Amino acid sequence: MPDDMRDGTRSAAGEHAGHAANGESAGQGGPGGGGSGDGSGRSDGHGAPARDTSETTHASEKAHASEPRADGPAAFWDSLYSERGRMWSGEPNRALVETAGHLVPGRALDLGCGEGADSVWLALQGWTVTAVDVSAVAIARAAAHAAERAVPEGQITWLHADLSSWLPSGQADLVSACFLHSPIDFPRAAVLRAAAGAVASGGHLLVVSHAEPPPWAAGHDHHEHRFPIPEDDLVDLALDAAWSVLVNEVREREATGPDGQQATLRDVVTLVRRH
Ligand SMILES: C[S@@+](CC[C@H](N)C(=O)[O-])C[C@H]1O[C@@H](n2cnc3c(N)ncnc32)[C@H](O)[C@@H]1O
Repeated sequence: MPDDMRDGTRSAAGEHAGHAANGESAGQGGPGGGGSGDGSGRSDGHGAPARDTSETTHASEKAHASEPRADGPAAFWDSLYSERGRMWSGEPNRALVETAGHLVPGRALDLGCGEGADSVWLALQGWTVTAVDVSAVAIARAAAHAAERAVPEGQITWLHADLSSWLPSGQADLVSACFLHSPIDFPRAAVLRAAAGAVASGGHLLVVSHAEPPPWAAGHDHHEHRFPIPEDDLVDLALDAAWSVLVNEVREREATGPDGQQATLRDVVTLVRRH
């Protein structure tokens, strides 16, 4: 199963237990250890047909969105999300809050938005958000979450698309890729470079990743999964002189696992700014 430009891979879905839905203090950002993220549901298929059926897609985005293929990442992630009523806590990722909380709201792009907590938080801060995820189950939950939080209609555009084949149609002042890991069919480096290409002049790109699996993922098969060190993101992004690296470090945070376990998790946080 190819993952990105290098061999090895990012962590399996079920290993992202830092933000379990039933661990309310954990924020969001990874299945709560209950998913089959060891790759058992993976597919090696490639190449989605270009067709968009998302009812929440804005017209300007439709030409760029492709309905994810039924036997690829969409099936894997839909299956994972369907294992439980809610995967994440519904709270935004801390690194996003710490970053965007200091920025003037503009246009934001949330890549791999999951159940939408980051997008909803951004919208409530005044950002106009485009949120993309390969899972229709996640997108439906995200839209419902936005409605629950009374996000004004039209402030978030939900796109059901595979980032492997989707390109942003415009530019954003903030592009966020929080825990954008996938154990199957995910060209992460290319996706991150496309994300950087979507950042407007003066805008920011935030990438947050698990530096290591949470302790409650012990027993999962990690041998194929490469957890990044900070330099990995910069290698993936291959930024030129038009960029400044503002943050590229490992940060620790306290989290609660699916069975109430407490742990200190380590994330790689990268924030870059286009001049
Ligand atoms: C670990 S979850 C993180 C979700 C959210 N960003 C968060 O921090 O809670 C990874 C998300 O990436 C999505 N994803 C995985 N592969 C994708 C792809 N090829 N295209 C779009 N989204 C993808 C999954 O459906 C999932 O919602």
